[in-house]
Amino acid sequence: MKKKILAAAAMLGAVLMAATGCAGGAGTAGGGGGGDDVITVGFAQTGSESGWRAANTESMKEAFSEENGFDLVFNAADNKQEAQIAAVRNFINQGVDAIVIAPITVDGWDDVLTEAKDAGIPVILEDRTVSASDDLYASWVGLDFEQEGKTAGEWVKENFDGKGANLVVLEGTTGSSAALDRATGFDAAIEGTDITVMDSQTGDFTRDGGKKVMEGYLQKYGSDIDVLFAHNDDMGLGALDAIKAAGLVPGQDIQIVTIDAVKDGMTALANGEFNFIVECNPLLGEQAAELVKKVLAGEEVEKATIVEDQSFTQEQAKEVLDSRPY
Ligand code: AHR
Repeated sequence: MKKKILAAAAMLGAVLMAATGCAGGAGTAGGGGGGDDVITVGFAQTGSESGWRAANTESMKEAFSEENGFDLVFNAADNKQEAQIAAVRNFINQGVDAIVIAPITVDGWDDVLTEAKDAGIPVILEDRTVSASDDLYASWVGLDFEQEGKTAGEWVKENFDGKGANLVVLEGTTGSSAALDRATGFDAAIEGTDITVMDSQTGDFTRDGGKKVMEGYLQKYGSDIDVLFAHNDDMGLGALDAIKAAGLVPGQDIQIVTIDAVKDGMTALANGEFNFIVECNPLLGEQAAELVKKVLAGEEVEKATIVEDQSFTQEQAKEVLDSRPY
């Protein structure tokens, strides 16, 4: 109710400003968004599929807090693209000042982004990218997923090329930029080696998905599998259960490379059950909030901001585990 009143007030304010020709401080089309006004932001999160996602949601909620001048309308779409698009449409109808989206998949965004643009509501993307024209959103902050995949592939190449190794892959959500770009980077890094990719299927970035797909791989290929590349820690952690249940030793019989570096993943690395992790930094909230404020203030912003990642061996994981913030 309060939000409806705020949205109505914001819309009325915008109408009055347009009628009087008053620029109204930092506000832009779509509502208030400047000075001491509360900025209403609709955030369309993917869901709660992984530890990474939990850390990302927390970072966003912290940054878009009341103390920082925001009224955050949060929606998590349970990893369903239609639900996420419906949430964005809802934000447009509510007349929020700005919309932030962590897009589940790359495709399918053209229509709703056009609707947001027509309504004068700026959109900021965080985390993943979209295939829609970049005229349809103000800015994106996220990670270089292709480089993450490449770093993982280079480690595999360094440790397994020349040994005739067999590898299986647990892919992230089908059609997500995270899964597509990580696959591209990884494949490029191991190209020309004698490593055989035996199988590659989606585990949807979840622990459960990783476990189920790994069980299938183990039934089919058994101890012929030398290496597992999981597109995120959670699927790797699910796979650990399957590997142990099959009587094999993770980290030794099957070496495991993952992406994310969340606490549980880093613990598995420090314990010797994982062998290498490429970081994917989930702490994007502050930068996303900064972008929203700047865009609403009419300031120029970069179209793309890439946050740097690191990578960790087992020894490095032991050193940094206690100081990891997520
Ligand atoms: O888009 C980032 C990816 O989404 C993370 O690597 C994964 O854990 C999450 O679900």
